[in-house]
Amino acid sequence: MTAGTFSGQVALVTGGASGIGEAIVRRLAADGARVLFTDIDEAAGERVAGAAPETTRFLHADATSEADAERSVATALAVLGRLDIAVNNVGNFGAGDTAGAGLEDTAVEAWDNTLRQCLTSCMLGMKYALPPMLAAGSGSIVNIASLAGIRVTRYASYAYHAAKAGVVHLSEAAAVLYATRGIRVNVVAPGLTLTPNVAGAMPEELRASLVREFHPSQRMVAPEEIADAVAWAAAPGGAGATGLVIPVDGGWSAR
Ligand SMILES: NC(=O)c1ccc[n+]([C@@H]2O[C@H](COP(=O)([O-])OP(=O)(O)OC[C@H]3O[C@@H](n4cnc5c(N)ncnc54)[C@H](O)[C@@H]3O)[C@@H](O)[C@H]2O)c1
Repeated sequence: MTAGTFSGQVALVTGGASGIGEAIVRRLAADGARVLFTDIDEAAGERVAGAAPETTRFLHADATSEADAERSVATALAVLGRLDIAVNNVGNFGAGDTAGAGLEDTAVEAWDNTLRQCLTSCMLGMKYALPPMLAAGSGSIVNIASLAGIRVTRYASYAYHAAKAGVVHLSEAAAVLYATRGIRVNVVAPGLTLTPNVAGAMPEELRASLVREFHPSQRMVAPEEIADAVAWAAAPGGAGATGLVIPVDGGWSAR
């Protein structure tokens, strides 16, 4: 990947105001893409846009809202002129859903919240990105899942496991079914990644013990390392690669 890899291309990234999404926005912009990123955190979005090249735009939009997903794609087309890359990055535990809770104690509302945050947001991002990509005969979609969508871990909830596994298989289905129409769909599955949110929500001791247990590398992944994989999957040169699930996990999935 070089500074010109994405020259002339437009990317839409959800949840780009912090953490992994922010690293993806910075990386695609540095490699020449014009980027529209969305987030529900207005202040953080303005801060990231302010530090990025002038062709990087921020839109306040909720990835779990169908109207906002449609508006995000319409804005990319109206303001930046086209849509080549869609990165569906939003996804976390929904309100009320916690890692330690047993399945027998999981409230349907908490379950629904996590499915909406992780899986519905991804589906909506794809639903509205696909029409302009199909019309152009090309497009690259990269969905951010999690190692919890592939392996079982004690730090994820039941809903998060199920939702991220859903992201993986939804992506594989779309990769297969749109393969002859110029659309590529790939998944990046992060392991434990040191984002501001994780640093704030997970005490250092817990992080260290999870890394010891799960990551053969014995360290957390950096958001920039996830962005590297996204850039590779999204790049025009990766034309043959579709339906891949790319773990960036310090070796966890090889155990
Ligand atoms: N950090 C990790 O260890 C880790 C591990 C595996 C997978 N992931 C996945 O990577 C992705 C990014 O993770 P992160 O830790 O950077 O995320 P995060 O929770 O820190 O949030 C990233 C951004 O998304 C925004 N956001 C939240 N809900 C939104 C919504 N409904 N619409 C628009 N924006 C919204 C937040 O304001 C924030 O700026 C997620 O899909 C997550 O599940 C992260």
